[in-house]
Amino acid sequence: MENNILLHATGINKQFSGVPVLKDVELSINKGEVHALMGENGAGKSTLIKIITGVYTKDSGQIFIEGKPVEINSRQDARNCGISVIYQELSLIPALTVVENIFLGQEIKRRGFLDKKEMRRRVKELIDKYEFDINPDTVVQSLGMAKRQLIEILKALSMDAKLIIMDEPTSALSAAESEKLFETIRGLRDKGTSILYISHRLEEVYKLSDRLTVMRDGEIVGVLTKEEITPAKVMRMMIGREVKQIKDTSKKKIFKDNVLEVKNLAFKNILKDVSFKAYGGEILGIGGLVGSGRTELIRCIYGAE
Ligand SMILES: Nc1ncnc2c1ncn2[C@@H]1O[C@H](COP(=O)(O)OP(=O)(O)OP(=O)(O)O)[C@@H](O)[C@H]1O
Ligand SMILES: [Mg+2]
Repeated sequence: MENNILLHATGINKQFSGVPVLKDVELSINKGEVHALMGENGAGKSTLIKIITGVYTKDSGQIFIEGKPVEINSRQDARNCGISVIYQELSLIPALTVVENIFLGQEIKRRGFLDKKEMRRRVKELIDKYEFDINPDTVVQSLGMAKRQLIEILKALSMDAKLIIMDEPTSALSAAESEKLFETIRGLRDKGTSILYISHRLEEVYKLSDRLTVMRDGEIVGVLTKEEITPAKVMRMMIGREVKQIKDTSKKKIFKDNVLEVKNLAFKNILKDVSFKAYGGEILGIGGLVGSGRTELIRCIYGAE
């Protein structure tokens, strides 16, 4: 079992101006797994990622890669450990080609000159290996978000990344593009790469992850395996208490005519038995955690789903 662990971080503490943001955090990522990191806004997910990738230094704790203790004090240290991050705001240069972008800052040279043939060959090799639908000679500005993300992934792979971290990777993608990305992620995993995945969209996390670590207020609340993951359980862990059904207690009906009535609305396994009335002249608020189905509810009402 022990040698199946790629990254193990233990006893990680971090304070910002005296305020503890990470408290004795432990994170373990296996080789070749998709691991989700979840928690409400401000739980400490990004801070933990930044410590693993050398952007922030930890106050205490230890990180192990394949059982060996490592010191990660810079992004280069992280890269040397085989850790790559794909940021929400992608870092590609639009005027350059796919190959030029991938080797930007890590160009291969031969007798002092850029070895364009060799760089192209290596990119082609990766594209073929991972079966990406990308032409190495395309100029990036002609490509959409989804393709650009694939190039970022290729870039990580070109640096021999063993762990690729993705922070909200689908936020700018369409549903179809997200599906494609999930396929890519599964493909990476099946070839032995580990993925650490941060998303507020519960639905996609359930679909994708082999294991899931939940954080709350800077602490690890628990780790669930695929079989153990249920939406209710994750919600409860994230917010720290039971999510109760709330009865509509607003007795006073100032406006008589109900303009909209929703009855027993269901959608995939996101919405279950949703009923409410909206009266004329009333402002009706819909509250809930990210991923609880608010957006889907509205999309169903106006016909986008
Ligand atoms: N550079 C910083 N200086 C001071 N406080 C910070 C800094 N970065 C993060 N924090 C604080 O640390 C806590 C954890 O933030 P973090 O960004 O890690 O949360 P998160 O889980 O990534 O949230 P989100 O889901 O919103 O991205 C928050 O209270 C935040 O305000
Ligand atoms: Mg964050």
